[in-house]
Amino acid sequence: MTYYYRLGKIPPKRHTQFRNDSGELYHEELVSSLGFSGVYSNIYHKNPPTNVKKVGPSTPYSYKILKDYGLKMTHLKTSGINYTGNDFLESRVPLMVNSSCIISICYPDQLSMPYIFKNADGDEMIYVYEGQGNLNSQFGKLPFKKGDYIVIPRTTMYQIEVEGEIKPKFLIVESKAPIETVGRYRNELGQLLEHSPYCERDLHPPIEINDYSDHKGDVEMKIKKGDALHQYFYGYHPFDIVGWDGFLYPYTFSIYDFEPITGRIHQPPPVHQTFQARGAFVVCSFVPRLFDYHPLSIPAPYNHSNIDSDEVLFYTEGEFMSRKGIDTGSFTLHPGGIPHGPHPGTMEKSIGKKETKEYAVMVDTFAPLHLTENCLPYLDEEYPYSWQ
Ligand SMILES: [Fe+2]
Repeated sequence: MTYYYRLGKIPPKRHTQFRNDSGELYHEELVSSLGFSGVYSNIYHKNPPTNVKKVGPSTPYSYKILKDYGLKMTHLKTSGINYTGNDFLESRVPLMVNSSCIISICYPDQLSMPYIFKNADGDEMIYVYEGQGNLNSQFGKLPFKKGDYIVIPRTTMYQIEVEGEIKPKFLIVESKAPIETVGRYRNELGQLLEHSPYCERDLHPPIEINDYSDHKGDVEMKIKKGDALHQYFYGYHPFDIVGWDGFLYPYTFSIYDFEPITGRIHQPPPVHQTFQARGAFVVCSFVPRLFDYHPLSIPAPYNHSNIDSDEVLFYTEGEFMSRKGIDTGSFTLHPGGIPHGPHPGTMEKSIGKKETKEYAVMVDTFAPLHLTENCLPYLDEEYPYSWQ
């Protein structure tokens, strides 16, 4: 759920004749979620979006679950990783998965994608840990930079182009449920309320429609559906649109625009909530903020027993005050069923501190997560005992 937006040329009334200067009809496409009950957009193409030149072979694209890992507090020492593969799909490494989501890192070596990608399985949230560039899609050009969350509705056809010399690093959460702004921060008509930690001005839609009229040659698209990548070829550029309008489109939100909610005593994680995927997970942003101001407050969090969620933290900037031995770029997983809390000494050390400069992205899932075999090189075997 974002807000109504329009870009480019659209006819005054939907589902009516809309022609180019030569009198030819444009091709309208309704892109709708939850059948016809969710948010949607109407897109106007120069070519029929159904016109496929060739369907290529499908190739397996999946992961292997790490068997017999057990119930353990987990630290993945992923901070030293500079790249995880060549292109955008090869470098996408699933680390933690369940039936509703896949949490991956993606540190590609290449700065552009020679093909278009479409995820037909789920929405994607890409957190830009490093780098900047544009996400081009049938909705136009969407600039992104370090610290942005890019929220991409399923079946959006996109191509990432990186700008500058910094190799990109992405955290990617793929979700079976739609990824939305937080429901309790919206009024009954969908507008973000006054006490929301962000508002519509902080959500950035695509800025312009790219012109592909000079494009020559076939365009390859890789579509993820099931445990496979399906290869399609088009004889024109599929981003060949003249305009669109609606509520469904990719957008960015910067973690640097999240306005923290603070209190006299320690505020619980829901104050950091940024997105929701109903029944599946929440995403929270930990950002620099003033600490609790009760005279006897303890800024470090209290011990906490997740009785019905698994908690993943990706540490992105600064020093995380309740943890020892965790670097930026690392993950922790604190699974439901056992308590977790501040490392020894950090509670006492936090007293009297006025502020934190930490940044972290948290994903709390409601179904237990499984580690994949991709985690094996990064497991910190000592972490479960680091509270001794
Ligand atoms: Fe927690």
